[in-house]
Amino acid sequence: MKHCLICSGCVETFIDFGRMPLGNAFLTAEEFETEYFFNLAAGVCESCFAVQLTDQPKPEKMFHSRYPFFTGSSGRMSAHFEEMARSVSARFLPGSDPFVVEIGSNDGTLLDFFRARNIRHLGVDPSSNVAEAAARKGVQTLCAFFDEREAGKILSEHGSADLILAANVICHIAALHSVLSGIDLLLTDAGVAVFEEPYMRDVLEKTAYDQIYDEHVFLFSLHAVQKALGPHNLELFDAQREWTHGGSMRYFIGRKGARPESEELLRLLAEEKLAGMTRMKTYEDFRGRCEKSREGLVRALEGFKKDGLSAAGYAATSKSTTVLNYAGIGPDLLPYICDTTPEKQGKFTPGVHIPVRPPEAFRSPYPDRALLFAWNHAEEIMAKEKDFLLSGAKWLVYIPHVKTL
Ligand code: TYD
Ligand code: ZN
Repeated sequence: MKHCLICSGCVETFIDFGRMPLGNAFLTAEEFETEYFFNLAAGVCESCFAVQLTDQPKPEKMFHSRYPFFTGSSGRMSAHFEEMARSVSARFLPGSDPFVVEIGSNDGTLLDFFRARNIRHLGVDPSSNVAEAAARKGVQTLCAFFDEREAGKILSEHGSADLILAANVICHIAALHSVLSGIDLLLTDAGVAVFEEPYMRDVLEKTAYDQIYDEHVFLFSLHAVQKALGPHNLELFDAQREWTHGGSMRYFIGRKGARPESEELLRLLAEEKLAGMTRMKTYEDFRGRCEKSREGLVRALEGFKKDGLSAAGYAATSKSTTVLNYAGIGPDLLPYICDTTPEKQGKFTPGVHIPVRPPEAFRSPYPDRALLFAWNHAEEIMAKEKDFLLSGAKWLVYIPHVKTL
């Protein structure tokens, strides 16, 4: 029995995917021999209902100088971050000389909004390649893991922060309490921290088991975040559901007692109870749906092969690593995956070693069937790839159910 990283309660495993590589560890053929694997399983805490991985690979193995994820690679995501920056600035930025810190600032997509307005800002990111991309834009960036110690250094160098932002980052950090202590240390009394993270309720509702991979140490709920903030001088005062990453929650955090709890927060908390998120059985039912989803996907791909239809994957997402390895889908069923990230092209996907090709390869010629891994960007992709359907080809999707479109 594992202990909860948030409250030390007992964590009950509800899904075990077995041996799994890292979601973003795209590799060359020479690296096959030394590929790193760990056991991917998710559990839920019996006392705070925080969903978490039961075994965490070392952070240095995941976030390093060759981290292949760039926030700015999706047009809609860039627009989303601009909206986030605009709305939090309007609501929370004080008038005189504000200071904004972003934890996990990646390529500086979000902080660029503040840079363009001459607002004091600092991004903190441990992956040097993305941090350098941010610095090239003129976004002030520190290449480090954000924790209590780093927060102390930032405080003494820059003073306290009025706004602390993080998007798809806090759920990556097993040492959550050290991050929260750092925020507690760095935030002004009237300051606000805003996080946005994949939301467990969406994972349950969409059977999006592909959100479970090494980097997502936690898949948060409002209940879990409330519990995590408990020991710190911090509390949730508002929340907002977002479409990003297939369904996220934006958490608004201030000093204890500084702001009233919003009606939306209370409504969403009540909805979590109604959705069964504070009952163990909900998570067991989820496992059953995942098993069905996996079987359906393999059956569909085997059917294409039998019918002589060519197939390819669309977007080599980190999420796809869980799906492909859990279902045992390799190049025999899916000969290649096209992806826009130059760092992934010419390499192979983790574990099952499917070649990754540039997006041009998708068009020349179109496959008969394309398995959509970036389902969270479906709208943007469907709009961009209209000609694919016109060629008579079809999409294969697995969220929320396996079906061809
Ligand atoms: P994302 O959903 O952010 O994936 P994850 O967090 O699971 O890695 O998708 C990013 C990946 O999808 C990235 O490898 C780029 C690729 N992608 C495409 O290849 N084409 C597209 O049109 C989009 C939007 C993404
Ligand atoms: Zn707990």
